[in-house]
Amino acid sequence: MTPDLLEQGARRIEERRAALAGSRSNTASGGRNASAGRIATPGEVDVTHGRILYLEDVSVSFDGFKAINKLSLDIAPGELRCIIGPNGAGKTTMMDIITGKTRPDEGTVFFGSTIDLLRHTEPQIAQLGIGRKFQKPTVFEQLTVFENLELALKTNKGVKSSMFFKLDSAQSDRLAEILVTIHLADSVHRMAGNLSHGQKQWLEIGMLLMQDPKLLLLDEPVAGMTDEETARTAELFLTLKGKHSLMVVEHDMSFIKTISEIVTVLCDGSVLAQGTLDQVQADERVIEVYLGR
Ligand SMILES: Nc1ncnc2c1ncn2[C@@H]1O[C@H](COP(=O)(O)OP(=O)(O)OP(=O)(O)O)[C@@H](O)[C@H]1O
Ligand SMILES: [Mg+2]
Repeated sequence: MTPDLLEQGARRIEERRAALAGSRSNTASGGRNASAGRIATPGEVDVTHGRILYLEDVSVSFDGFKAINKLSLDIAPGELRCIIGPNGAGKTTMMDIITGKTRPDEGTVFFGSTIDLLRHTEPQIAQLGIGRKFQKPTVFEQLTVFENLELALKTNKGVKSSMFFKLDSAQSDRLAEILVTIHLADSVHRMAGNLSHGQKQWLEIGMLLMQDPKLLLLDEPVAGMTDEETARTAELFLTLKGKHSLMVVEHDMSFIKTISEIVTVLCDGSVLAQGTLDQVQADERVIEVYLGR
């Protein structure tokens, strides 16, 4: 690529960023410093443009292999978006990029219309209100359900403030409400290590909810669950929808069928198709990538 084209490309990205940042683009920094400054106020995500998450032309390579290739995607506030795609499509890598675990080589990733996630670290992104659930449950097995949920509020606090941490009444109410939401109200004093696989997954989701995330990223949440646990997880996600925005990656199509509105199909690091599950399942290109390999 010639320096000319590179410059034009850089200008286009700047223009798009400026447009996203709205009136803030009038500053000398093109709005980026102004928007970065806003992150000090947690709870403030500007969704007036109708998007809580916005990715444009995001790419990342590992040793020359393009795991994410010009990926563009956006999610509306309160939406429950399902992401499907064959193994190696880049689903987990996309979540790594959103949460700051992996830095893309190029592209734009915004939380709301003003927060440029590429300018933030992984812990900052969590504090901004993006919670992530990995496939394997990571609860503290030696602690009770209650203690696990309580601990979730202490993360990101210093050692000293953690030692003297006590739930206030709003937090206690919240904990009680979450216990009901995650179907663990009857197990509050049980050791997390004694819970079933599905219950551990719900507990971990509960731990994320304690931090009241605006956006929740869930990577294969029903893998290894029984049918009954899967059905209860579907119910749980449907109750979270609206209050939170959710991005759910799953291979289990009957689960996707129960919870989905819009389904995005990833393949080779970019969006192959998007629509209702019926629409994408009828798409020849989708059939090809699922059956043709
Ligand atoms: N850190 C890394 N280093 C090298 N290659 C990587 C790295 N992370 C991911 N990849 C590669 O990028 C591609 C996309 O992987 P990713 O884990 O995102 O796929 P996925 O869609 O989540 O697949 P699955 O459905 O199997 O979980 C794969 O080919 C993977 O081997
Ligand atoms: Mg994956």
